Amino acid sequence: MPRSEPIKAVRGVRDILPADLPVWRAAKSGAEDMARKFGYEEIITPILEKAELIERVGEDTDAVAKELYRFDDRGGRNLALRPEATAGVVRAYFEGLLNQGPQPSRLYLFGPMFRYDRPQKGRYRQFFQFNAEAIGSGAAGLDAEVVELAHSWLAAVGLGDLRLELNSIGDAKCRPAYLERLKAYYRPLKSQLHGDCQLRLEKNPLRLLDCKVPQCQPFKAGAPRVTDFLCDECSAHWAAVRRLLDAASIEYQHNPYLVRGLDYYTRTVFEFYPGGATGQQDALASGGRYDGLAEELGWPATPGVGFAGGLDRVTELMAAKGEDGAASPPADVLVLPDGDLAVEAAEVARICRAARAVAVDYEPKSLRAKMRSANKLGARWVVLLSVEDAARRVAQLRDMTSGDQTELAWDELPIHFV
Ligand code: HAM
Repeated sequence: MPRSEPIKAVRGVRDILPADLPVWRAAKSGAEDMARKFGYEEIITPILEKAELIERVGEDTDAVAKELYRFDDRGGRNLALRPEATAGVVRAYFEGLLNQGPQPSRLYLFGPMFRYDRPQKGRYRQFFQFNAEAIGSGAAGLDAEVVELAHSWLAAVGLGDLRLELNSIGDAKCRPAYLERLKAYYRPLKSQLHGDCQLRLEKNPLRLLDCKVPQCQPFKAGAPRVTDFLCDECSAHWAAVRRLLDAASIEYQHNPYLVRGLDYYTRTVFEFYPGGATGQQDALASGGRYDGLAEELGWPATPGVGFAGGLDRVTELMAAKGEDGAASPPADVLVLPDGDLAVEAAEVARICRAARAVAVDYEPKSLRAKMRSANKLGARWVVLLSVEDAARRVAQLRDMTSGDQTELAWDELPIHFV
């Protein structure tokens, strides 16, 4: 039975079409070059993880509590499509024994992430991240390093006009006392907060600070600031990170309300936004330090720091700024057989592939029509193959830039593609 409706893509999930790919390739190769320049090695971790691993990222985290793609597989295992990569990379660092090599491990990763969020421009249910993680050291130099890596990557792909927001949210030692102060400040205001924030007040008070709902905004200015309550170690770390960023001439704004959506952060947190624009925007890249995460996952306590850039948002902005990457035709050479010469045309293409990307036009249409398509496709050369030429194992090579046409033996074709 034919279906009445054609089958379309899943909501919030999209295709990246060939025409979009030059900009994606530019964004990815820029990221890869930069990661290598900073001494990071690639890692690939699974898209599927145990739901438990992801839940440890923070049960009050939106990406886990509300947005997780979670399901039981056929064996009854509780699995999740990863909403972020850091927990998986930390798991792989231990399982792959990277913790036993020289520290820190500097790792980068590309891949799709999944969040059941409300789809809109720049926010998808399947989206792609570039992650960089430095695991196994608590040195402030690494916090500054990952910020610089993100900054250098974005600048290299033409997005140097950035706003960097930075904060420190302390650690397990100093944060509890701060949270008590924060709760004490907000409790008398509870009835004036919106519903989610009323719940956050006792469960996850830090998130009160990054609430975007207008009715909660007036109270932020009077709230105690986390950076005023850091312990000596966190305070020294915060100062060191800022000093290193100053020395690297990386401008930042201290945003005392920046706390990030994921619960695993300690000390440094940061977000990069497009510069200049105003109003509420989506971050291009964001990250921070996660010294408590390894232990939370059941592994030995091990510090780490990193960030993830959203490739969907980065490529959208690159395209809007005309940073389209080098669009190139799919094939440099098109073989245009006349009549029923599929076998011969395939052989000519095979020979030409020694030198160039080659495609064959097998469609049952006239040579004139095939030439029109070749022009549209932007091929640099066309190899015209008539029945008479094929019998003699020769073809006509046409240079589409100059219009020159030369008869050549098939085997001689590759040396002419220069
Ligand atoms: P995140 O802030 O949740 O952090 O995501 C990082 C980046 O992914 C965002 O800045 C944004 O560019 C992109 N992104 C997030 N959600 C979406 C979406 N629905 N659609 C399109 N792009 C999106 C993390 O994931 C942390 N794991 C980052 C990290 C690495 N922290 C330490 N290491």
